[in-house]
Amino acid sequence: MKFFLDTANLNEIREAAELGFADGVTTNPTLISKEGGVDFKQHIAAICEIVQGPVSAEVTSQDKDGMLREGREYSKIAPNVVIKCPLTRDGLKATRQLTDEGIKVNVTLCFSPAQAILAAKAGAAFISPFLGRLDDIGENGLLLLESIVEIYRNYTWKTEILAASLRHPVHVIEAARLGADIATMPVKVIEQLFNHPLTDKGQAQFLADWAKSGRK
Ligand code: E4P
Repeated sequence: MKFFLDTANLNEIREAAELGFADGVTTNPTLISKEGGVDFKQHIAAICEIVQGPVSAEVTSQDKDGMLREGREYSKIAPNVVIKCPLTRDGLKATRQLTDEGIKVNVTLCFSPAQAILAAKAGAAFISPFLGRLDDIGENGLLLLESIVEIYRNYTWKTEILAASLRHPVHVIEAARLGADIATMPVKVIEQLFNHPLTDKGQAQFLADWAKSGRK
């Protein structure tokens, strides 16, 4: 399973890249706005200098023509830019057109298996089911992921399943168990994956015993 970073913060991306955990990056308008008044295209270019893998840049137009204009423009920023289109009628029309032009599309805001089927039929390179946001309204995001994995396995669609809106380690572990192609997560979740109290305790004990034995 590949790890994408769900952030637009350059320091966080550099840090995760050093750890070898940045196979790609997903941004969205909210994440970009957290970086203040940055120039969108320059900022995406800066991310693409750090990360070799796919970097998602999301369109903000609502209509197909606007999405196509943005998608064509952003795809020129760097060869690894992927255009993020919303799972709307116009978003899927734009997905089909951009895909036909050789531009990869990440279809975002997926909340049902039916939507995931439509995205694959439209030729999306990635489908992003939002697990955490379903959990937030009392549904089970992992059940959505499970359904999509099951459905996609029946066909030879090229669309990769990108588990998104991951909020904690269990989301990541279960996404891996289900066979998601990619998990995108904030740096905070990557840090949580490291942690285990028995590792800390064991390490402290080893160092104490070593010191007690008089070795330097
Ligand atoms: C994915 O591409 C989205 O940017 C992201 O996972 C959304 O996560 P959130 O629901 O925590 O905002």
